[in-house]
Amino acid sequence: MIAASEPLDPNSAYCNLLQCSDFADTCVLAERDGEVLGWISAYRPPSHPERIFVWQVAVAAAARGEGLAGRMLDELVSLPAVQGATTLTTTITEANPASWALFGAFARRRGASLSKSKRFERAAHFAGAHDTEWQATIAPLPSVQT
Ligand SMILES: CC(C)(COP(=O)(O)OP(=O)(O)OC[C@H]1O[C@@H](n2cnc3c(N)ncnc32)[C@H](O)[C@@H]1OP(=O)(O)O)[C@@H](O)C(=O)NCCC(=O)NCCS
Repeated sequence: MIAASEPLDPNSAYCNLLQCSDFADTCVLAERDGEVLGWISAYRPPSHPERIFVWQVAVAAAARGEGLAGRMLDELVSLPAVQGATTLTTTITEANPASWALFGAFARRRGASLSKSKRFERAAHFAGAHDTEWQATIAPLPSVQT
């Protein structure tokens, strides 16, 4: 599904397997009738344990526009392994309006602010081979009432 979800980086099978095993507690999989329709990979960065970093979000083409990605983000921040995180971060290229809309809507729903700054730059970090990745920072994440 990741490979079919441009502009996401496909990564290696090895990387995907690590996400699904070592980081399973901070990932979300959506299925309908046994078919995988959505996936979020995320983790708590060791150097910033107050954050949840969203690596990739993908929804199968046939299931887009139904609010699934937004619901998966809501599910992510309610997971036990995400409790205590006060900030959600991710990186997005300028030319991905769907992703900006997704995270903008998430921030609005939570009454949080979204700020952006350059994290990995086209020339300095990607030798011109990849667009600049902007870090979106959404805070505060209200603590989930249990
Ligand atoms: C981005 C993606 C995950 C959105 O999934 P989705 O389930 O269709 O998204 P949702 O239905 O939950 O929509 C969430 C918000 O984004 C908006 N949105 C969704 N797709 C959009 C698009 N193509 N263009 C503009 N806005 C879009 C929705 O209108 C909604 O905003 P709203 O609540 O203000 O109306 C999906 O299009 C996808 O997999 N794209 C390819 C991979 C990718 O770019 N992933 C994001 C990078 S991490």
